Amino acid sequence: MTDTFKRAAAEAAVGLVAPGMTLGLGTGSTAAHFIALLGARARAGLGVAGVPTSEATRRLAEAAGIELVEPDETTVIDLAIDGADEIDLRLDLIKGGGGALLREKIIAGAAKRFVVIADGSKKVAELGRFPLPVEIDRFAYGLTVRRVRETLAARGLPTTVNLRSAKDRTPFLSDGGNYVLDCALSRIADPSGLEAALAAIPGVVETGLFIGMAERALIASAAGVETLRRLG
Ligand code: A5P
Repeated sequence: MTDTFKRAAAEAAVGLVAPGMTLGLGTGSTAAHFIALLGARARAGLGVAGVPTSEATRRLAEAAGIELVEPDETTVIDLAIDGADEIDLRLDLIKGGGGALLREKIIAGAAKRFVVIADGSKKVAELGRFPLPVEIDRFAYGLTVRRVRETLAARGLPTTVNLRSAKDRTPFLSDGGNYVLDCALSRIADPSGLEAALAAIPGVVETGLFIGMAERALIASAAGVETLRRLG
């Protein structure tokens, strides 16, 4: 059922696409639905281009027949569409469950509009139940982990920080070759304060907190597709 809702949210997002747009293509199972649906329209002559947020998405988009562009300083991204691990009522997000947070944040941040697609299970009153991904440089990563733990402790948050593993039990590497930490925080009372504090640690490449970035969220459930808009 969840997959049906993911597809419904993706379908609603396809309705925001116009001919000639350059689109940020997100990563994950919900974004994969969007790429498949967009690909069908691209093959029928819609005339759009995509900027992928991961190598997995690049492969999906190529297979779907979507023209891809390499972003540079002159690239205008009209609309970025991506999934999320948690969405609160302010449209702040936790992302990075798939480990693509850095590229996702670069593309969402560069886009004129960033729209999130999700099934209803992702909507939460408060962020934090989903472990917060934090991408870190591999150099001296033990020291960075210690600084992350100290920063969490100083904010009264739990300090359970796990280095993410790949399926073969070696450390997971992002597309950029970085490690990812998963921080089990339970609840994040001040997402923007935490984001700023973590981002200030040397060695932290990016956090999975996406604050004030999403313009709207399309959230599908048995009741239909709900549109949440960011206030202000
Ligand atoms: C990928 O790094 C993530 O940010 C995904 O967008 C997020 O994990 C949502 O994935 P699903 O759509 O697969 O739930």
